[in-house]
Amino acid sequence: MNTSNHVRIVEVGARDGLQNEKTLLPAEVKVALIDRLSATGLKSIEATSFVSPKWVPQLADAAEVFTRIRKLPGVSYPVLVPNLQGYARAREVGATEIAVFTAASEAFNRKNINASIDESIERFIPVMEQARADGVQVRGYVSTVLGCPYQGEVPLSDVVRVARRLHELGCHEISLGDTIGVGTPAKARAMLHAVAQEVPMAALAVHFHDTYGQALANILACLEEGVRVVDSAVSGTGGCPYAKGATGNVASEDVVYMLHGMGIETGIDLDLLVATGAWLAAQLHKDTASRVTRARTAVA
Ligand code: HMG
Ligand code: MG
Repeated sequence: MNTSNHVRIVEVGARDGLQNEKTLLPAEVKVALIDRLSATGLKSIEATSFVSPKWVPQLADAAEVFTRIRKLPGVSYPVLVPNLQGYARAREVGATEIAVFTAASEAFNRKNINASIDESIERFIPVMEQARADGVQVRGYVSTVLGCPYQGEVPLSDVVRVARRLHELGCHEISLGDTIGVGTPAKARAMLHAVAQEVPMAALAVHFHDTYGQALANILACLEEGVRVVDSAVSGTGGCPYAKGATGNVASEDVVYMLHGMGIETGIDLDLLVATGAWLAAQLHKDTASRVTRARTAVA
């Protein structure tokens, strides 16, 4: 049992949070978002994604955003990369940490990256080799770990196999994604437990979307199981354009509030995070999906 009293939050709002937004945001708003997030004490901020702009038009400005953000010492700014082309674009603007992504479900992978699981892993091999040569750290995502919008049930053995493979290939951290937010705590815990038999718990992270309102409960179950890295998105933004029916990520404000309430440290200033969440919701002309931000910013 992991008794560490510190949790690292990986803030994915600038990438996962925005990739599914239909209204294109100007690069300067994305830069302002990341700079505000940097000021909250977050240590891992996923900045953008060097995928095909035809597939995700919102993040076509990845190079400009990555170039313009203020990179604080001690803070990492990983970017999503699907292939060598994305890797080259990311390196051109100086990215030193990347994330590759695949899924435990064949059907989802086909929709999301136009490849089977094995083909996607084949594509990562040259990316990982190049990254190793360049001293670039690589995170790996496994999507659809608790259900798939196209194939339904996802066998646990597939989740374990894909996570183990990414770890063997050299990913320093594997994020287990409930892409469509259908998981419940006992299932989430059992999934994490099974993966942790093959990949060290210290190399695992959890990534919950909150479609069915289960995300905080799932995170708590996984904390009890020993995970200490949690992905979340400020203001509860997010979703994958190729995951039908998925809503946003669990809100960072709500995760931080829960953790601080449990006496677990994050190093994050909740007030600054709430202010950033409220600001982002205003930029998107949306109500925030964070319950904490709603509670803290409610007009009496
Ligand atoms: P494809 O169409 O099979 O690939 O897409 P292609 O190699 O034939 O390329 C098609 C066109 O895209 C070509 O341009 C390429 O040059 C270009 P054209 O010749 O037609 O003018 N292209 C690129 N351009 C810029 N940067 C690149 C790049 N690659 C190709 N890197 C591909 C395959 C993987 C590229 C595509 O399917 C893709 O970009 N998919 C990304 C989908 C995506 O971003 N999904 C969301 C992220 S995953 C997620 O959200 C889940 C996660 O949050 C965890 C969870 O919640 O579970 C991580
Ligand atoms: Mg996601």
